[in-house]
Amino acid sequence: MSVGTAPGKVILFGEHAVVYGRPAIAVPVHDRQATAWVRPTGHRQPGPPGSGILLQAEDLDRRYPLTAAPADDALALIVRLTLEALELPLSQNLAVTVRSAIPIASGLGSGAAVSAAAVRALAAHFGAQLTPHQVSELVYQTEVLHHGTPSGIDNTVVAFEQPVYFVKGQPPEPFRISRPFHLLIGDTGIPSPTKVAVADVRRGWEANRARYDALFDAIGQTTDEARQAIEMGDIAALGPLMDRNQALLREIEVSSPELERLILAAKGAGALGAKLSGAGRGGNMIALVTQATAERVAATVRRARAKDVIITCVG
Ligand code: PMV
Repeated sequence: MSVGTAPGKVILFGEHAVVYGRPAIAVPVHDRQATAWVRPTGHRQPGPPGSGILLQAEDLDRRYPLTAAPADDALALIVRLTLEALELPLSQNLAVTVRSAIPIASGLGSGAAVSAAAVRALAAHFGAQLTPHQVSELVYQTEVLHHGTPSGIDNTVVAFEQPVYFVKGQPPEPFRISRPFHLLIGDTGIPSPTKVAVADVRRGWEANRARYDALFDAIGQTTDEARQAIEMGDIAALGPLMDRNQALLREIEVSSPELERLILAAKGAGALGAKLSGAGRGGNMIALVTQATAERVAATVRRARAKDVIITCVG
């Protein structure tokens, strides 16, 4: 049996503006992983090519042959694309099983991670080597299925498994973190389909391009300052930059009362900065904490009704 894994991710800076060509920074969350297994099933299945490939999504309690998958099934798509990339026929007899510890539709990149894990497990099964760039390109195509017009940041960070400075259409720049820092991720428990938030922002942009472009520019500027601070190890500068990014995200109307409640709770308990992460509306809040404040902030955020709290070290 061959195994592939991929981490979750959070967007630290620049979500939404990244769809409009501004930079964003995303980091892997190694504490939550998606895993895929590929095992040969041995016996030949009658039927068209693909009927011998059994797909199993454990979290969704689903089990089906590739040929019976609906057209918008991401697992079937990634299996097809990976076999094609490896120049292998669909007439295989194998089972692909996926499981994810990353909450779905909460901005932690679960979809991209599951796809990346499946690509890696298949490559390992066939003894093939794929570069992070190739993994990223394959996963991007499943992101299109989930998001409509994805910037490509999720597939990039889960494929490279390191912090990435990302501008749409340009080669991603994985970069080094000179001083590790701690993030607390608080889940509102409200699923937030990225597609919906991205479409709403597009409507806002279409109605008032000058205003939205100025907001996106300000977000891009904040992201660039944050990259500098991270590279210089100036962690104290990051908190106010997260607050500034959050203020701009409020202006484009992707925050929500639930996110604001968690942000207020985190900051009240000593977080150095806090913002939504990902599409917004629901999903996750991220807060900059230290080892000394992490537990206190976690307890306060839980009391503010966070459904889940993750403390992760970046770098
Ligand atoms: O909710 P997530 O983590 O999938 O992030 C969406 C990020 C957006 O910038 C809103 C969309 C995108 O494609 O980059």
